[in-house]
Amino acid sequence: MAKARAKVERGDFQTPLGLARAVTRLLSSQGVEPRSVLEPTCGRGAFLQAAAEVFGAASLRGLEIDEDHAREARRAAPSARVEVADFFRTDWDQIARELAEPILVLGNPPWVTSAGLGAIDGDNAPSKSNDARLRGLDARTGRANFDISEWMLGRLLDALAGREATIAVLVKSSVIRRLVERCAVRGPSAAGAVYRFDARAHFDASVDAALLVVSPPLGRGAGAPAASWPVFDSLESRSPSSALAYVGGAVVPDLERWARTEHLRREGKGAWRSGIKHDCAEVFELEVRGAALARRDGAVVDVEEDVVFPLLKGGDLDAGVLTPRRALIVPHRALTETETLARCPRARGYLEQHAERLGRRRSSIYEGRPQTAIFGVGPYSFAPFKVAVSALSKRLAFQLVGPWRGRPVMLDDTCYFVPFDDEISAARAVSALNGEEAIDFFEARRFVEDKRPITKRLLDSLALERLTSAADESSR
Ligand SMILES: C[S@@+](CC[C@H](N)C(=O)[O-])C[C@H]1O[C@@H](n2cnc3c(N)ncnc32)[C@H](O)[C@@H]1O
Repeated sequence: MAKARAKVERGDFQTPLGLARAVTRLLSSQGVEPRSVLEPTCGRGAFLQAAAEVFGAASLRGLEIDEDHAREARRAAPSARVEVADFFRTDWDQIARELAEPILVLGNPPWVTSAGLGAIDGDNAPSKSNDARLRGLDARTGRANFDISEWMLGRLLDALAGREATIAVLVKSSVIRRLVERCAVRGPSAAGAVYRFDARAHFDASVDAALLVVSPPLGRGAGAPAASWPVFDSLESRSPSSALAYVGGAVVPDLERWARTEHLRREGKGAWRSGIKHDCAEVFELEVRGAALARRDGAVVDVEEDVVFPLLKGGDLDAGVLTPRRALIVPHRALTETETLARCPRARGYLEQHAERLGRRRSSIYEGRPQTAIFGVGPYSFAPFKVAVSALSKRLAFQLVGPWRGRPVMLDDTCYFVPFDDEISAARAVSALNGEEAIDFFEARRFVEDKRPITKRLLDSLALERLTSAADESSR
């Protein structure tokens, strides 16, 4: 297998010895004294070497798929038994039976997702044919994409259920979240802690990763749902900054803040809307050049004012830029509305001129729709005032967006907003949303490392009216 491809498929990021040592020292300071240490994908053996230094009396065992790495690992930790083996073809129940308690599973499983494997037609997964392997994993997790390490750790947890075992692994924060959920819902029940570290400094990777330490004993069935997992900001931190927990049917990042703000939660439909989705900035988005409008390529566009609106995007909201630099052609007032275009021949002509480009829009939502279809448009899009937030921002910063040059401002699908007819109500909502209680509410229920850290579901779950009416009462 070509080296670069093997590295990707095998999620190969070798742990620097310094980091492996810091982990084993931390475990030892917490009283972990294993009789056996297992490194399930031991690579070049940094963890085996660190374990030999700190837990010298324990028997050490490592498995690794790459022969060269395994050879290095034997050199790094001569007292360890290192085998060349594929995790997915290893009998973990048998290995678990052979391990003397207390057991320590130590390591850094591969950093690769099922989508990453799919992209390179990779093979590093369980069961027979490649497709069936990935489908098998999808079926098991109920998700289209997930980390191979999640599956590996789930397998190890099952093999060690009921045993006196500590599991200490470096993994992505998203994997930790799923394992916390797994322990609560499916078992084996467990409790533990999370220690963040700087993956960029140690691995030169822009991944949000942490050390997960699962403490013994591992249960046999599903766990206590409210068990909390303290989160430390570094391997050296002595007091946690928050605690993960599985509550209310989901893993939350900060149990204390979650409990403090739970009275603000509401069920059911909320007022938040997603901005307009069109998937063709080239045609629909125009630059405002003084009084004129132009396409990105500089061509001036002359269409009826009726279909042109000022536009803000998530990036603008995030940067606090509320003066629109772009305009959006909105050919329909609702998904199935056609009167607007019927009365705007110049806009019709412009869109017909770009019919071929519009026809190439990839998303299946456009299939069977008119060529000019856009989504996320309705009467709410034309409300004069909007309280808006960028969906992609790590920072929670709500903005009041008012009309510009007498026209309601449109938002694109990287934004969420609540429409308002009057400015006073919008101002009241924006001040409540940027207040401490609302921010605490959201921060206790979202994970900043997510691709879309702000979702409609999250926004809708806050009973905004409770906050604004409380503010009204206190100002009386
Ligand atoms: C993220 S690296 C970490 C290596 C080592 N645990 C460390 O901490 O330095 C992941 C390792 O898993 C190995 N690996 C990937 N897929 C494997 C499989 N199916 N079975 C066994 N080892 C595997 C890779 O070769 C690589 O050495």
